[in-house]
Amino acid sequence: MAEIKEVPSKISRFERVGAHTHIKGLGLDKNLKAIKVKDGMVGQEKAREAAGLVVEMIKEGKLSGKTVILAGPPGTGKTAIAVAISRELGPNVPFIQMSGSEIYSSERKKTEVLIEAIRKCIGVEIHEMRKVYEGEVAGIDIRTTSHPYNPYQKVPESVRITLKTTKQEKTIEAGASIAQQIIQQGITEGHVIQIDAETGRVANLGLSMESAKGKTYDVDTSQKIPRPTGDVLKEKEFVYSLTLADLDELNARQRSGGFFSLFFGGSESKEIDTEVRMAVDQQVKEWVDSGKAFIHPGVLFIDDSHLLDLEAFSFLGRALESELVPIIILATNRGVTTIRGTDVKSPMGFPLDLLDRSVIIATHEYDAESIREILSIRAREEKVTIENDALERLTNIGAKSSLRYAVQLLSLSAQNAIAMKHKSVTLEDVERVDALFMDVGEASEHLRKYEEKLMYH
Ligand SMILES: Nc1ncnc2c1ncn2[C@@H]1O[C@H](COP(=O)(O)OP(=O)(O)OP(=O)(O)O)[C@@H](O)[C@H]1O
Ligand SMILES: [Mg+2]
Repeated sequence: MAEIKEVPSKISRFERVGAHTHIKGLGLDKNLKAIKVKDGMVGQEKAREAAGLVVEMIKEGKLSGKTVILAGPPGTGKTAIAVAISRELGPNVPFIQMSGSEIYSSERKKTEVLIEAIRKCIGVEIHEMRKVYEGEVAGIDIRTTSHPYNPYQKVPESVRITLKTTKQEKTIEAGASIAQQIIQQGITEGHVIQIDAETGRVANLGLSMESAKGKTYDVDTSQKIPRPTGDVLKEKEFVYSLTLADLDELNARQRSGGFFSLFFGGSESKEIDTEVRMAVDQQVKEWVDSGKAFIHPGVLFIDDSHLLDLEAFSFLGRALESELVPIIILATNRGVTTIRGTDVKSPMGFPLDLLDRSVIIATHEYDAESIREILSIRAREEKVTIENDALERLTNIGAKSSLRYAVQLLSLSAQNAIAMKHKSVTLEDVERVDALFMDVGEASEHLRKYEEKLMYH
């Protein structure tokens, strides 16, 4: 039987932030100067311009193995800037976002979570020359035989296919496995197909525009493509965009024996061992040396990274020394605090040797004008209209407590407006939800009042 490998074709990106959907980019001009309001971004110009330079360096591969720290008070747009960086980098640079708290799990080791995240951030573009038969199907003849266990059932035995390109026409004979794939994929005359000469894997590329079927508006909704050029049997370059984590998984699956994992997905959730990773690294390095693969280091963004502990930091420190590393962006809202897992105090709770190797981007608190602008962008994003006095009140709340709290109150007010059957968000809605909910300051004040009565254990 021909061996079939499944290759995920796209780098998967992971996003969970609903609060940042309005961020489309860093909002810079050609000279990387920030425009006050652009791409959903408002103010915070210095941090945005700094991030713009970081993006350029990442694109040119000059920042690999370095860390970028986003530091500033809560709700000043650190996460927003990281999201904007990922938008600027475009879809081909892997960008993985995680929170510092995610490394603590009862099932997996901290370092295991980090290694996997790091390997998801390293894109490998593999170029492979393969011999394929490619052409528009001009004739197809599937021969069947009786099923070995059930003589009343017919199964495909072999197939004779005529493939046509703009240059030639060729007829090939193939065995049962190819015949089966052709039936399964519903390939008929007029489809453009590729058959891998070595593995026998069949790919249906779409309907040929020049075929009789392609010319009519048939029920066949396959994509229409031109008839291939050149010889039917040719060497073709295939490009796959994968990550080191994808390669680890493919490799681990192959090792655990084809049969069981093919049918039961046996190895999927299993941890990948160091041996597999080393073999993948070795292989990738060989491919790179021989010009078959290119590495695209991506970005690992760890939000709330003061939640990492010393063990995690030293692991990251070591990872930064190795050859295949992404750019690591850490965001935190802590000042001088203890490094988790120790009683040593240090800026932002990060070890000094990590700080030494980082570029630090600071974010600052917003003035009322920027807060108002961000809130109206959010209102548009959430498709709500808001009355002027309501927006004014939210702006005041944002200036007093935090922008983040004001953004949350906006969504809650919009929900309240729906319940009250208001056409737009009114001052009454904002006042109601402000009275119902607390910001962090109020919450801790509230708890302090009842401190003696609260339980500690
Ligand atoms: N400059 C900005 N332009 C537009 N929107 C912004 C800007 N800064 C922040 N926001 C929005 O305001 C909200 C709060 O910002 P964000 O969550 O990025 O703050 P943060 O610095 O990460 O806070 P924390 O320290 O609490 O994690 C988000 O919805 C974010 O998208
Ligand atoms: Mg944040």
